[in-house]
Order: sequence, then C-alpha cells, then structure tokens
Amino acid sequence: MQLNTISGRFAALTIIFVMLAEVLILVPALASFRLDYLESRLERGQIASLAVLASDKSLADELEAELLQSAGLLNVVLRRDDIRQLVLSSRIPSPVVQTYDLREDGLVQTIDDALGTLLNRRNEVIRVIGAPVNQAGQLIEITMETAPLRTSMIEFGIRLLLLSAAFSILTAILLNVAVQRLVLVPIRRVISHMVSYAEAPEDARHIITPDARLIELRDAETALQTLQKTVTSSLKQKERMAQLGQAVAKISHDLRNILTTAQIFADRLEDSGDPKVKRAAPKLVNSISRAVNLCETTLAFGKAEEPAPTLSRFNLAQLATEVVEAETLASGDGPRVEFLCDIPPSLTIRADRDQLYRVLANLARNARQAIEGTGQPGTVEIGAGETDSDWWIRVGDTGPGLPEKAREYLFKPFAGSARKGGTGLGLTIAADLVRGHGGRLDLVRSDAEGSEFMIHIPRDMAILPARQMAGGR
Ligand SMILES: Nc1ncnc2c1ncn2[C@@H]1O[C@H](COP(=O)(O)OP(=O)(O)O)[C@@H](O)[C@H]1O
Ligand SMILES: [Mg+2]
Repeated sequence: MQLNTISGRFAALTIIFVMLAEVLILVPALASFRLDYLESRLERGQIASLAVLASDKSLADELEAELLQSAGLLNVVLRRDDIRQLVLSSRIPSPVVQTYDLREDGLVQTIDDALGTLLNRRNEVIRVIGAPVNQAGQLIEITMETAPLRTSMIEFGIRLLLLSAAFSILTAILLNVAVQRLVLVPIRRVISHMVSYAEAPEDARHIITPDARLIELRDAETALQTLQKTVTSSLKQKERMAQLGQAVAKISHDLRNILTTAQIFADRLEDSGDPKVKRAAPKLVNSISRAVNLCETTLAFGKAEEPAPTLSRFNLAQLATEVVEAETLASGDGPRVEFLCDIPPSLTIRADRDQLYRVLANLARNARQAIEGTGQPGTVEIGAGETDSDWWIRVGDTGPGLPEKAREYLFKPFAGSARKGGTGLGLTIAADLVRGHGGRLDLVRSDAEGSEFMIHIPRDMAILPARQMAGGR
C-alpha cells in the first residue's frame, strides 16, 4: 500500500479514523462493562445468601467458603426489615479501601471509577452496595477483591480493540475497492486519453468524449475536450498557414528570377530608337525593381528563423555612416533629406554587425521615404549612447509621423504598410532582429513634427534562441 496514491491515503485514513472512534467509545464501554460485572457479583451474592437463609441450620465452614469462592466474593451482607445481617463471611486478606454504592453513581463517576480500577495495579478489597433484585430486601452489600475485575476489564478492552482493528481493516479494504472503481479507473482513463492525445494532437480522433458518471470528473473531461478541440483546430490552422507560407516563398523566389530577367531586357529598352519606348523605359525599370524588392523582402521574411546573431565588437559611428551613405545614394531627385549622425566616435558596441546594419537601414529608409512623401525637405538623425546596462540607438526624423494604419499594425508583418509599393515587413524584420539580441525596438514618438524609434540592446546579452525570436512576434 503506497501512501502517495489516492487509494493508499484512503485506506490509511480509514484505519486511523475507525481506530480513533473505537478508542473514544472504549472508555465508556469499559465503564459499562465494570458496572455489569459488579452488578452480576451482587446478584451472585444475593443468590448465595438466599441459599444460606433457606436452611435453618448454620452452614458448615467449608460449604460457606465454597459458596463465597464460586461467587468470587469475600463477604455478603443483606439488609432486610431494617436488620443488617452478615450472611456469608470469610477472612478478609486486607482492610476495605473503598466503598462503591451502585445506587447513587452517575455516568461521570462510573467512568472515573473504571479508569481508577484499570490504572491501579494493586489487588485491593472493595465494598460494593446495591439494591437486590426482585425487591428481596433493602440492600445488599458485598466485599470482593479487585484483581479479577481488573483482569476481566483488560481482557474485554483487548477484545474490543482487536475487533475494531479487524473492523477498520475490512472497512479500509472495501473503501479501497470503491475508490478504485469509482475514482481511479475514470481518472486513469482521462490520463491515458491525455497521453494518446499528446502523441498526435492533430488527430481529432484522440479527443476525449465525456462519459464519466461522477459530475466532477465529467466536468474535467468536458474541460479537457474543449481544450483539445481548441488545440487541434489551431494546430490545423497553423499547419495550413505554414503550407501557405511555403507556397508564397516558392512563388516569390521564382517570380524574382523571372523579374530579374525582365529587368535586364527593360534596361535595354532605354537604348531604343523609338522615343515613346525610350520615355516609358525608366518607369518600367522602376516598377520591375519594386517588384523584385517585394519578392526579396518576402523571401527574407519567409526564412522564419533568422540566424542567431554573430556577435562582434565594432564602431557604431562607422556603421551609421555606411547606412547614411547608402541612403543618401538611394535618395532620388526629390526634396532634400539631410542625414545627421550624433554618435560618440569612440562608441563601440557588441552585436551582429550585418543584422544591425539591416535594422538601421530599414529605419533610415523609412524615415527618408516618409520625408520624401511630404514633398518638403527634412532631417533624419541617428543618435546613440550607452548606459551601465545597455546601448541605445535613436533614429528620429522630421517627417509627418506614422500614418494611423502603420501605428495600428506596428511590427505586424504585411499589415502596416501605408506606402505605395511597401510590404509592411521592414519594421517587423527590424524588431525581430533586435529581439534576437535580447533587446527591443520601440516607437517612442510619432506626431506631426516627426517620428522617433529607439533601439535598446542589453550589454549582457541573453541571446534568445532563433526559434523563440521568430515565434515571439
Ligand atoms: N519614420 C517614419 N515616418 C512615417 N511613417 C513611417 C516611418 N516608418 C515607418 N512608417 C510607416 O510605417 C509603414 C510600415 O513600415 P515598414 O514596416 O518598413 O513597411 P514598408 O516600408 O514596406 O511599408 C510604412 O509604410 C510607413 O507608412
Ligand atoms: Mg520600410
């Protein structure tokens, strides 16, 4: 029997409780046993004395001794018609120490006397007074020794305890069987359901059908069923999304190759002799390169797991300058966008240089595109610094602020783009890459005066595994 199982605990508790109950009734039972014993001695005394009174002659000594011995008594005194008469007598081995009057004793007194008898190991002589049966006289008084009484009481107590032990073991066994059938079998059924479900959660056949008869278990089964249904359906959904993602990745890949070929041919059109064709060519080239860009960003995002950052120490100002140079080159003939770098020249940080380049390039390009969209000149500023715990990089601009839609779907893939030809992936990828460094990317300000993004990268970088990074968006 194991104590850390339900049935084990039930059995142990049953035995303990039954024994406890038995001990509680043992004391009153012993008191009542003692009372019965004394009363039966009184009765024997009365019968023996009646035998003596019936014969006129005085009794031979041996006969008197035999009568007393078989009754277990020393003396018998009868009181009839107000005359007290010593009917049977023998030599008393020691003086009488205590007198018990059974006509007067209440329950508490009886229990007290019983405990006294049990605890006193000495054999003493006591006097017991009671009313004779059938009103044969006024009272009867006997003198007797306590040792036989005490022995009988102890034997009775042991019998009672043994009986209750047997009784509690039987109860425990029965209860155990009941618990097994009523509780454990259904619980094991639920557990085995869970196990087989966990092996193949996509398989709807493993979902439990609630059929327990106990209400509590049935509730548990119903809750489990709801949970399993939700899990199974979201797993299916996820699987479908993954398949869709793969399809999109394949299409993007092939489309990019096709478009790159188209781009080469479109480039040649610029040399055409036909002025109409020549004029249309740059627009065609532009459209195609936007399409190529869309395919490439989709593909980059489709690589669900960005590789974990490869950390190195490098100068941040230098990296920012590279970003600014690339963006300055990319800015067209539109309104002037000025790039400022406010980074301590000696600031070096530990991060994945390529990934951080992509992050800054995304933020700077967004800022430039936003400013260009207004038709007004503006400024993009990259600032950086360090604290005891992390490095921070700030990319601010004097653009128009993020449109409502972009703010609502900030960092959500494909959803937040408010720009013609945009994918809505730039910020998502940037946030993912920063998170891969254990850091975070926040939009700290966005209003009519401009926007400001802030990157924090912790110094003691707890690199999250790549999978967690991809799943964390
Ligand atoms: N600095 C910014 N100022 C104004 N709007 C911005 C800025 N950065 C991002 N946005 C808005 O957020 C949208 C989402 O940006 P992004 O995730 O990079 O996708 P994409 O550039 O492909 O549209 C952009 O379309 C743009 O409307
Ligand atoms: Mg962008």
